[in-house]
Amino acid sequence: MSGHFISFEGTEGCGKSTQLGLLAERLRSLGREVRELREPGGTVLGEELRQILKRRSGSGGMTPEAELLLMNAARAQLVREVIRPALARGEILLCDRFYHSSLAYQGWGRQLDLKWVRTVIDFAVGETRPELALLFVIPPEVSVARRQERERRQGLEPDRFEVEDDGFFRRVAEGFRAIAAEEPSRFRIIDAGGTVEQVRAVVWEAALAVIQTRGPGGSG
Ligand code: TMP
Repeated sequence: MSGHFISFEGTEGCGKSTQLGLLAERLRSLGREVRELREPGGTVLGEELRQILKRRSGSGGMTPEAELLLMNAARAQLVREVIRPALARGEILLCDRFYHSSLAYQGWGRQLDLKWVRTVIDFAVGETRPELALLFVIPPEVSVARRQERERRQGLEPDRFEVEDDGFFRRVAEGFRAIAAEEPSRFRIIDAGGTVEQVRAVVWEAALAVIQTRGPGGSG
């Protein structure tokens, strides 16, 4: 029996995490076994690496190369410890970011050679790839405003990524669009500028297409 694997991608403040939670809730209400994951994270080791990757003090001098490797160390652990066993049990996995984020952030954002980024990703994930990657797209100014609003509301300090300049986030957004264009059969681009309800309806329709057409036990 094989389950389903859907990743949620996009820049900061695009609303993907909210939509992931809503989709999980709806699928569970229909009796499906759903697991919510996030990257970097999702395992004990991965959550520790997440702290190191996100904190500003002590990790400030991290090189882009070290960042790429740590992201993919967390990913390699998640794939083997959680994703593969859960797929084998027939669960539906919803992952807040996956390897496309390394292409967009470390490749396009940090401007590492994409050939190396792909090589590291291939080693980390092997054949374990999402059937569907949802890319949530919003204008850059909306991303900045939502991020600032969240920080204000939650009293959070911006993390090591959130303090990057506009140029970095422009490259990441451009990267995501280019990556999606390279893999059109895997990606669904979602205009995330609408209301939560509007976006939720589009996400539901996209997820259902994967889950129904390939059904549990299918080729997915
Ligand atoms: P978030 O889960 O709060 O979005 O934070 C994760 C941060 O890590 C976000 O800024 C994107 C970044 N990231 C990468 O740079 N590369 C990756 O491969 C992943 C998964 C995340």
